Amino acid sequence: MDCLVLQGGRPLSGSVEVAGAKNAALPLMAATLLAPGEHVLTRVPRLADTRTMVRVLEALGAKTKWDDGSLRIDTSTCSSVEAPYELVKTMRASVYVLGPLLARFGRARVSLPGGCAWGPRPVDLHIKGMEALGATIEIDEGYIVATAPARAGKPAELRGTRFTFPISSVGATGNLIMAAVLARGITVVENAAIEPEITQLAEYLVAMGAQIEGVGTTRLEIEGVEALTPARVEVIPDRIEAATYLAAGAITLGDVTILRCQPGHLAASLGALEAIGGRISIHGTSITLQASGRPRAAAITTEIYPGFPTDMQAQMMALATIADGTTTITDTIYHDRFTHAPELARMGADIRVEGNVATVLGRDRLKGAQVMATDLRASAALVLAGLAAEGETVVSRIYHLDRGYENLADKLATLGANIERRPE
Ligand code: UD1
Repeated sequence: MDCLVLQGGRPLSGSVEVAGAKNAALPLMAATLLAPGEHVLTRVPRLADTRTMVRVLEALGAKTKWDDGSLRIDTSTCSSVEAPYELVKTMRASVYVLGPLLARFGRARVSLPGGCAWGPRPVDLHIKGMEALGATIEIDEGYIVATAPARAGKPAELRGTRFTFPISSVGATGNLIMAAVLARGITVVENAAIEPEITQLAEYLVAMGAQIEGVGTTRLEIEGVEALTPARVEVIPDRIEAATYLAAGAITLGDVTILRCQPGHLAASLGALEAIGGRISIHGTSITLQASGRPRAAAITTEIYPGFPTDMQAQMMALATIADGTTTITDTIYHDRFTHAPELARMGADIRVEGNVATVLGRDRLKGAQVMATDLRASAALVLAGLAAEGETVVSRIYHLDRGYENLADKLATLGANIERRPE
């Protein structure tokens, strides 16, 4: 297993290109199951998670090929409907194959994902959505076994429904719309997630021939069609990766430019970075952050899109640890997503967590330490802290980072960081 070794204290400067968004690529990859044939996805980030999804698709019988910057997925040879535990346990987003399998084959057997490092993350809304479309769901030896309603003399088929999400869910919205596009009749989804990754999924389904009205809004009206055809799509840029590198600029008092991003998707993160004192300028698809000095304290609350993303909460906490003043950070999406707090404390941070609120008393400086994180964004926060800390920081268990950041060490080195990847 590798670790990252950082010598902190260098201001970062220069530019990096952002990769395609992991959280957009994963549902798009699952959606290819809906239309037999060859799909071409470009700008798919090369990450542990996209490789896991490739393995899930291959387990279902698909053929895949990485071709320069693109991923070809041929789903005409799919025959299995089982997503095995060995793969799903390593990546919760594997559950995205549930809706497409059920819609195309009338049945699916998908392992239940486990909890996460920061607490339980249920899939009840995914299941309720499938049930609303008429599917029967059983839990059998840790697997969700889903069956579409049978019809006399005809293949089993889901049927249109009206479904209101009690809370906004990115994944459950994605699964429901992927199932509904091939269902018989009309499905109306209320309180649908409007994260850009879900909007892109809906646009991709439309490109495949799906009938969806209200794309990009919380009310979707989907008229099921008989069949879909394969399509081509370029994955949107990763808004979380982009914001993480801007945060790296801010925490090192540097000057960092992100290339090839969609600034509109980052509005809340840019607002938070400005609130802590970053000077932001946008030119087309690039964003520059120039630090104006020591970060300022702020109040940050995570919300569903277009609010401040929970996936940037840990990185902002790293900034808050050296801010001038006291920052409060409230996570309304995941109430106990604070596993990075005790690790940041090992570097000298002063953080008190009560319920879903962390209070961070800014310190003049952090000191390098040996740290390890238990999830992806928490690991990113430790890297940011290490970039700013005095002396050496060793971040272990970086397989978490490999799940979501393409060439993180190389990109940070391009910006001038003293960072090295080594075997532990
Ligand atoms: C996605 C993102 C993840 C991000 C999260 C919130 C992917 C692959 N992952 O995760 O990076 O942190 O959105 O923006 O895109 N919930 C239920 N029942 C369910 C499903 C969700 O109660 O069946 C709850 C969750 O526990 C959470 C809230 O709904 O409190 C939102 O979760 P959700 O939007 O579903 O997150 P994911 O799709 O898993």
